[in-house]
Amino acid sequence: MGETVTSSGQAGRIFVGRQREMGELTTALESSVSGRGRLVLLAGEPGIGKTRTAQELAQEAEARGVEVIWGRCYEEEGSPPFWPWVQVIRSYVERRDPGPLQLVMGAGAADIGELLPEILQKLPGLEPAPALSPEAARFRLFDSITRFLKAAGRSQPLVLVLDDIHWADEPSLQLLQFVARELEDSCVMVLGCYRDVELSRQHPLSDTLARISREAVYQWHLLRGLDRNDTANFIESAAGTNVSRSVVEAVFTHTEGNPFFTTEVIQLLSDRGELAEVTVGGPEGIRIPEGVREVIGQRLNRLSGDCNQVLSTAAVIGREFTVNLLNRLIEDLSEDKLLEVLEEALAARLIEELPPNVGLYQFTHRLVQEALIQELSLTRRVRLHARIGGVLEDMYEAALESHSSELAYHFSQSEAVTGSEKVVEYSIMAGEQAIQSYACEEAEVHFRRALTSWEEQATDAEPAEILYGLAQAVAATGGRSAAPEALGYLERAFQYYLDAGDVARAVEIAEYPVDHRAGTTAGMSDFISRALSMAPPDSQQEGRLLSTYALARYKETGDYDRARDVFNRALVIARQQGDLALEMRVLADASEAAWWHLSLPEAVEYGRKVVELSAQVDDPRAESQARTYLERATAALGDAPAARRGLSALLAHAERLRAQPQIIDALARNAEIGFFTGDWEAALDFCDRGLALAGVQPYIGSVRALLEYERGAFAEGWSHMEGLAGFVSRTSTELTGFR
Ligand SMILES: Nc1ncnc2c1ncn2[C@@H]1O[C@H](COP(=O)(O)OP(=O)(O)O)[C@@H](O)[C@H]1O
Ligand SMILES: [Mg+2]
Repeated sequence: MGETVTSSGQAGRIFVGRQREMGELTTALESSVSGRGRLVLLAGEPGIGKTRTAQELAQEAEARGVEVIWGRCYEEEGSPPFWPWVQVIRSYVERRDPGPLQLVMGAGAADIGELLPEILQKLPGLEPAPALSPEAARFRLFDSITRFLKAAGRSQPLVLVLDDIHWADEPSLQLLQFVARELEDSCVMVLGCYRDVELSRQHPLSDTLARISREAVYQWHLLRGLDRNDTANFIESAAGTNVSRSVVEAVFTHTEGNPFFTTEVIQLLSDRGELAEVTVGGPEGIRIPEGVREVIGQRLNRLSGDCNQVLSTAAVIGREFTVNLLNRLIEDLSEDKLLEVLEEALAARLIEELPPNVGLYQFTHRLVQEALIQELSLTRRVRLHARIGGVLEDMYEAALESHSSELAYHFSQSEAVTGSEKVVEYSIMAGEQAIQSYACEEAEVHFRRALTSWEEQATDAEPAEILYGLAQAVAATGGRSAAPEALGYLERAFQYYLDAGDVARAVEIAEYPVDHRAGTTAGMSDFISRALSMAPPDSQQEGRLLSTYALARYKETGDYDRARDVFNRALVIARQQGDLALEMRVLADASEAAWWHLSLPEAVEYGRKVVELSAQVDDPRAESQARTYLERATAALGDAPAARRGLSALLAHAERLRAQPQIIDALARNAEIGFFTGDWEAALDFCDRGLALAGVQPYIGSVRALLEYERGAFAEGWSHMEGLAGFVSRTSTELTGFR
């Protein structure tokens, strides 16, 4: 079968048209090579040529000595968190020796190693960075990755192609935003492709696009269909012979210049032997199928039954698949026969090999995979997912964790036959993996799926683990307004452990630090006091719980005397045990309570002690907390110069930690003192830095509006007020916690 078109694979290498886009991409490439990095996005419908155009740019770049790395996103759930970025970093790491790698990764190697453990193997003996909350640790991870990319670009310019980012996980998009902000002075070009037709306004990419489009480094191109001339060129080169004008016309009318559709139609006509025929006899006899799916369907019909069976199975595995896995799934074909069948599909250019790995293939286009999946009945699809899940479990027996999202995906697709147990088991595993790599939005997806499956059909799995995971994910992604929800999950998890008699674990859960600011977590003190009654007397745990309890209860009731008593009890435990870390923690909480109660000298006294202790104890969270209230109290007591020095130190501390929430907080405090002491230039600068990091932030936004008002710039002030009003109406519950 087939005539001239594809057995040579020629069609894949032809590139027609796109002069304007290639011109702009090349300019962006040159700019990046010379130290002004660029972020370029290519949008367009499926099959329009986004990937192909990116490949062309990649070739151009490589010809100029630029290193090109690809990160691909897939529609199937089941990719690990940060997948496109993991692929990029992994390719880079694989190609480097430890020495040069250490050089470009610098101090961030340990952070990035949390995402890619192979780095830790390649660079043994890395000092782990200090532990932070998931939210702050994520910022540090982003920062380390960005620094690494910039350093890598300095040693050899870099092009990163992120393909199909409309399927990227949310954490990956956040990282893209972060990287975009830093590209300006780098030798790194990021080229992203996405399907604009997939984007609803709720799609996370829409939000990312809105943000990154404000960056100076940003460019965007919409690919449309090839024009008549380019289509004619394309058909002739692909067919390798002259084709009559009327064939071109017929194909162009049907495909509207979509190169994928065009390729498939030519291939079909060629398989049917109609290209040449029509060239002679005119187009009357040509029947061109209406849509892409139909063309692919007709092409598949021309392949053997075995080939169709193998491809259907492969399609359910995903866009990429291995011979190894297929071989285990398809028992009635010998390995030789399987390879033969794959050759058949390769020749038809429905699949292609993915070097450098042997035995790794992918569908030449997602549309091919989609067409295959759609032909399967629901029952067959579900059974296939079940089989795939089972075989993957065997294959990955020794490394289930790192494949947990894939397993969770296949088992959730086959829940009707395999039941909930596996969905719950692997979703929990995948959620925990995601938390560990600070992909909290992903974690939330996994834990929510686990909870739904668990609720629908109780399994042996521990619901407390799900609830605890969900609490962590929600607390990290939802900000302050999510605190009550997070706390609700913690309480439920706590109760489950209690009922199961696992007191130690219950108490441990009660200690999880939810951001408990005024008003958002009413009822927290009750919950903590229940945990307190179970903690071993005079233990460190009791000390920590007492401290949390005292602060939470003070915020709920305003009873400062009672809070002070409880703090003192906690301090007694700390001093009895000689536990400086506990002492530091208690004093930090106490300085916060004192500030809110306007017991300013006490806030200063406790805060100072914490700063002293920080020379001996490493507790970044307590240190930031105490420095904040110490300096606010110092300013309120009238010593503005001291407070300004202290707040600079607070900012420096946060920057050293590379902890974004703390940095934003510190910028807000510095803006505030600048404003009140009349140093408006400095205040403006702090505000702008804070807003650049945080987007809308109510505290900084209001200082910013006031500043404009004081300077008489009412219109600018008003625009900040409008931003604030929008923020408030979106998250009215946050108002109660507004400080
Ligand atoms: N400008 C072009 N010249 C020749 N072939 C092209 C061109 N653009 C796309 N193609 C071919 O069309 C098919 C679909 O293109 P692809 O880049 O995969 O689309 P997308 O990524 O937009 O879905 C591929 O086989 C590709 O080689
Ligand atoms: Mg593509």
